Amino acid sequence: MSSDCSICSSITTILYLIPLLFALFVIPFRLISDTRRKSKTVAFFHPYCNAGGGGERVLWAAIRTMQKKFPDRKFYVYSGDTDATKEQILLKARQRFGIELDPTNVHFIYLHWRTLVEARHYPHFTMLFQALAGLVLSLEAWIRMVPEIFIDSMGYPLSLPTFRLAGSKVVAYVHYPTISCDMLDVVESRQQTFNNSSTIAQSNFLSWAKLAYYRLFACLYWLAGKTAHVVMVNGSWTQRHITAIWSRRDVSIVYPPCDVEEFMKIESVAERILEEKKTVRLLSVGQIRPEKNHKLQLEVLHDIKEPLKKKGYNVELCIAGGCRNEEDEQRVKTLKKEAKELGIEKELRFELNIPYENLIDELSKALISIHTMHNEHFGISVVEAMAASTVILSNDSGGPKMDIVKDFDGKCVGYLSITREEYAETVLKIVDEGRSQRDKIREQARKSLSRFSDSAFETHWNKQFENVL
Ligand SMILES: *[C@@H]1O[C@H](CO)[C@@H](O)[C@H](O)[C@H]1NC(C)=O
Ligand SMILES: *[C@@H]1O[C@H](CO)[C@@H](O)[C@H](O)[C@H]1NC(C)=O
Ligand SMILES: *[C@@H]1O[C@H](CO)[C@@H](O)[C@H](O)[C@H]1NC(C)=O
Ligand SMILES: *[C@@H]1O[C@H](CO)[C@@H](O)[C@H](O)[C@H]1NC(C)=O
Repeated sequence: MSSDCSICSSITTILYLIPLLFALFVIPFRLISDTRRKSKTVAFFHPYCNAGGGGERVLWAAIRTMQKKFPDRKFYVYSGDTDATKEQILLKARQRFGIELDPTNVHFIYLHWRTLVEARHYPHFTMLFQALAGLVLSLEAWIRMVPEIFIDSMGYPLSLPTFRLAGSKVVAYVHYPTISCDMLDVVESRQQTFNNSSTIAQSNFLSWAKLAYYRLFACLYWLAGKTAHVVMVNGSWTQRHITAIWSRRDVSIVYPPCDVEEFMKIESVAERILEEKKTVRLLSVGQIRPEKNHKLQLEVLHDIKEPLKKKGYNVELCIAGGCRNEEDEQRVKTLKKEAKELGIEKELRFELNIPYENLIDELSKALISIHTMHNEHFGISVVEAMAASTVILSNDSGGPKMDIVKDFDGKCVGYLSITREEYAETVLKIVDEGRSQRDKIREQARKSLSRFSDSAFETHWNKQFENVL
């Protein structure tokens, strides 16, 4: 990561314009805002609040805990879902996430310009135009209401300065950095991978122009980041990037609440299968995407088959995953072919697009969960596997390394490996170390998941939120 990527060299020229801008826009904007600001209000900028994804779980969980903790505040959501009523949105939050909100203290402010922020309008300079569209949308939000506390929970960076200038307290909850120093480095080093266009990589001028564009955008993003009073991120990966690009040291991690209750209830029978049937069951859960690196799992399976046989064990690997399209199907075919070449087709089983009950069943029978993706941002399936009492074996990178498979109270909660050999060795080690050691790991792993529970989320969220009260 380059160290100076967020330093804006051209900033000095802008400095001269500042007094003029202030007199013409900022001061009137602020004066108008001051007369319009509603006290004791908290508003979330979440134009897609009815989407039912991970970001929305955070939104509803945050509102729920604040309704309890700060009952004298009024809560608002800026929503672009003009076709959904308040009742419908709250019903979906309840059905989808089991999150029940007090309907008397949450209000929706509808934004009619949401279509502006859709990426499809901007085939070129998407990042910049989307950010500017976010600025315009935040102005619509400003026209409709000026809250005391403004929270951007969806990642529209330019909404932060808008409301900062309007005199609100500004909070950002970031799931994903819009631009990162890594991206700048890639363009700078002219790698083709990032943008598969070799014309750009080969041409000096275009490379330069593209880098200038990224720099400019990074500069804008940096300025926007500076205007937030409180910055929260959803994990270590995002923290690392936001800390670098916004050059702030006060970025705190507030993990989104993971719903692992159902997985915690699973009664594991893996030890019985190991003892009675002499079978070591491995499970791999994840979409059949190339970055999940299923090939490595086959190789590991091949490598452990003989050693386990010598110890008197059979081995089985179940790959349970979503198959979204033709390409995924093709990958499964290739994997099956490779399994045949490795002589492990009998030990391998695919459960594609597995129904939920069957997944629970597989988890209850698996001794070890194997996960081979490199640099996964987080890895919810890793969390679920640990909740379900399987011993986790994951790649030593990304979210599993930084957030999940981390010693808890100084005790081991699972294993991390890097190479094929190391993966195979670790599987054999887990089998060898015996039941009582495995039980210790299981217990510790489940305890460690309290870090991702609803109550941990509530404590951390409220603590950060109190900084702007
Ligand atoms: C944070 O959000 C990003 C983008 O949605 C996601 O890929 C990542 O898994 C999330 N991290 C956590 C800890 O949930
Ligand atoms: C190439 O870059 C453009 C804009 O910079 C982006 O829209 C496009 O998705 C990129 N293509 C690939 C293959 O990454
Ligand atoms: C990238 O470009 C190469 C050669 O130009 C092409 O073969 C390949 O399919 C492209 N990859 C993607 C992801 O577009
Ligand atoms: C696992 O992570 C290491 C270190 O981050 C990386 O070098 C390695 O390639 C990864 N292994 C696999 C199989 O993805």
